[in-house]
Amino acid sequence: MTDIIGYTDGDIDTNMSANPTFEEIAAERYSRRQTLLGGISAATVAVFGSSLLAACDDDKGDKAPPTVNAGTAVSTSSGKTVTLSGTATDNYVVDSVSWTQTAGPTVALAGATTNTPSFQAPSVAATTPLTFRLTGKDAAGNSATSDVTVNVDPAKLDFVAVPKSQTDVIVVPTGYSVTVLYRLGDPIAGGVAAFANDGTDTNYAQRAGDHHDGMSYFGLNAAGTGPDYTNNSRGLLVMNHENINQAYLHTGGATSPGGVRPTAEVVKEIECHGVSVVEITRASGTWAYTQGSAFNRRITPFTPTTFSGPVRGSSLLFTNFSPTGTDGRGTVNNCANGYMPWGTYLTCEENWAGYFRRDAGDNARRSAALGAKAVTAFTRYGLNTGAGDSARAGNFNWSTAAPTSAGDTRIAKFNASVDAATPADGTGDFRNEPNQYGWVLEIDPFTATSVPRKRTALGRMNHEGCCAGRVFAGVKPAFYMGDDATNEYIYKFVSTTAWSAADATPADRLATGDKYLNTGTLYVAKFNSDGTGQWLPLVFGSSGLTNANATYPFADQADVLTHARLAADVLGATKMDRPEWTAVNPVTGEMYCTLTNNSTRTVANTDAANPRAYTDPKTTGGQTNGNANGHIIRLRETGDTTEALAFAWDIYAFGAGSDLDAANINLSGLNATNDFSSPDGLWFGRPANATGLVSPVLWIETDDGAFTDVTNCMLLAAMPGTVNDGAVKTITNTIAGTSTNQSTRVGKAPGAQLRRFLVGCKECEITGIDSTPDGRTVFVNIQHPGENGNPGNITSNWPASQATGSAPGNRPRSATIAITKNDGGIVAI
Ligand code: FEO
Ligand code: CA
Ligand code: CA
Repeated sequence: MTDIIGYTDGDIDTNMSANPTFEEIAAERYSRRQTLLGGISAATVAVFGSSLLAACDDDKGDKAPPTVNAGTAVSTSSGKTVTLSGTATDNYVVDSVSWTQTAGPTVALAGATTNTPSFQAPSVAATTPLTFRLTGKDAAGNSATSDVTVNVDPAKLDFVAVPKSQTDVIVVPTGYSVTVLYRLGDPIAGGVAAFANDGTDTNYAQRAGDHHDGMSYFGLNAAGTGPDYTNNSRGLLVMNHENINQAYLHTGGATSPGGVRPTAEVVKEIECHGVSVVEITRASGTWAYTQGSAFNRRITPFTPTTFSGPVRGSSLLFTNFSPTGTDGRGTVNNCANGYMPWGTYLTCEENWAGYFRRDAGDNARRSAALGAKAVTAFTRYGLNTGAGDSARAGNFNWSTAAPTSAGDTRIAKFNASVDAATPADGTGDFRNEPNQYGWVLEIDPFTATSVPRKRTALGRMNHEGCCAGRVFAGVKPAFYMGDDATNEYIYKFVSTTAWSAADATPADRLATGDKYLNTGTLYVAKFNSDGTGQWLPLVFGSSGLTNANATYPFADQADVLTHARLAADVLGATKMDRPEWTAVNPVTGEMYCTLTNNSTRTVANTDAANPRAYTDPKTTGGQTNGNANGHIIRLRETGDTTEALAFAWDIYAFGAGSDLDAANINLSGLNATNDFSSPDGLWFGRPANATGLVSPVLWIETDDGAFTDVTNCMLLAAMPGTVNDGAVKTITNTIAGTSTNQSTRVGKAPGAQLRRFLVGCKECEITGIDSTPDGRTVFVNIQHPGENGNPGNITSNWPASQATGSAPGNRPRSATIAITKNDGGIVAI
């Protein structure tokens, strides 16, 4: 048959053959050339010109199919990016190649019509083959195929542990990079000057605060108008600013002429506390925060707040500022956090008690005005006056400063002394101001004008953090919390309202918080020696929580919640070795809690859940007694439901130097790659990527004083097992020659499933952690580098030191870092 070239001007539109038009041939030849040559420019096509048509005759009568090879079988693991590599050759030219998946869990192939498509290995629980077929076609329509198998193993930790370090840089594994993202003093509002970092800076209400702590990432939509929880390159970082390195905030350190703090210094220090909301974007691969974003905001101890839940309106909250007990100002000592399933951020008030002043004789005046129980309550929360009812100043002596303007009580509120000339109910002074702290506070990060709400149903304590359990439609959600002080308790709050899946993306996020966090039951944990445990309800009128209680006569449920510690004492909760962060395994629902250390634990008062009391010697001289290195306890709810009233427990890991006694102290068999002390921050990878699926990655951050003779604080990554994967063991505790035996429940030794991922700079704590949903960026907070120094003796120069190892003269700054893998992969696996 004779080829007829058709022209598309309509002249020979009677040609009804299937032969191609000139444009089709030219386009086809161009596409073949692209396949052959790996792509050519339009200009090059013009040069090829007439040869396109000539070549078209060459494959006439071609009967030989291409030779196709899909490559050799490979093995990988969940979460890895896999690139297939096929070849197709032909006696003339290959017209097209295409890949299809023929077996295994379906994956999305990028570049399926190239020789080298790629995909992300799916999450699997056991080695799973995926097969792919490469089809090559020539111009005459001849085709051939070739198959390749990719075996996918379950996700695994895939980095070489970093050694212990005492340098002034953040050390991460080979193949990873650190970007310093958001530092103390960085300006967040438009027009605010760059940070001088010499003590002259002011206006921290529009700059990053100090002591970065708990942190969550909330994805923003591409337009920047609201949430897109899946966005990996634009979002809001919300973080706590727990405390301050006071001396570095001022030119030559803090001053107090004549015992009076200058107001300007005090305002700086106060505004360095609280919370940041700051927009961040990843452009051209590099993360940066966006100065001037409309979402940027600081919440400080001055910011208006409201009370919600059972304590709202209680006389316990009456102050001169809020005579009806419904409103407050600000939040302080914000430690860890919570990411709520409806898209809000919880910030948790920890060591708030220390900020309050009480004048000499205040116990006597308080007892006269409010009854003896008011003194009992203050004492139980660490608000006690000094010996013999002497004065206490409160942290940083803030209340000595003059007001910022006449009648402004924002500073004066830190003086909780009873003014006997004012009404007994506290509406004329700030005697009840300490009752306004110790709560969990909910913030809507997407609405900069929203007023944060204190969620009183979750009780008042030294709130470390608040981790939501898994949510299932129709099941009441739970929120797990540690009270961080020596010998305090672990709590959970169970909502009255069962979860509705539609609430994952609500229009009004704080109203959704009202729905789940204002009504429910607060429980405290009791750990039994046989590996069981109970959640004991803090409900007024039951189990001794009545007005007849001899230690503390409870008035009502508001009184029980405001004095949750006293209620938990009555119920017989288990005194723990300083409960810090909680984290819930997104696959099993098991709840982990760090018990950071307890220097008061003795060989006489250990129990199965807090089993160690020992001596940890320092290489620099001296020693730490008690549970110097802490441990991580975990529990599994009966029936795997957040509504359970009982649980099983064991101890996932015991902190210890690897040189300590393996039989009685280093019970988890830690070695040089994973020995740690004083676990604090705790977080599981997000279930939106492979680090939160099948065998989720547990991240452990340390805030240590016992192991700092050999290493700075650190971040470890683990793939833990499950409750009761180990054994019951009896250990012998010895301090100063006195020994006793203690039975405990030791989880399976973690071995290589626990590795040191990062070591911090000098005198820092590692805290706060989240990732983008894809797990390819992990954000970590570096808190209080150089905390033991001052302007005259700067003991860390980080983050200025990060690039070169040293940067003399630079004051240290708490900061957020972004950790990425150089090959773009998911961090840690
Ligand atoms: Fe703020 Fe318990 O650490
Ligand atoms: Ca051929
Ligand atoms: Ca902490």
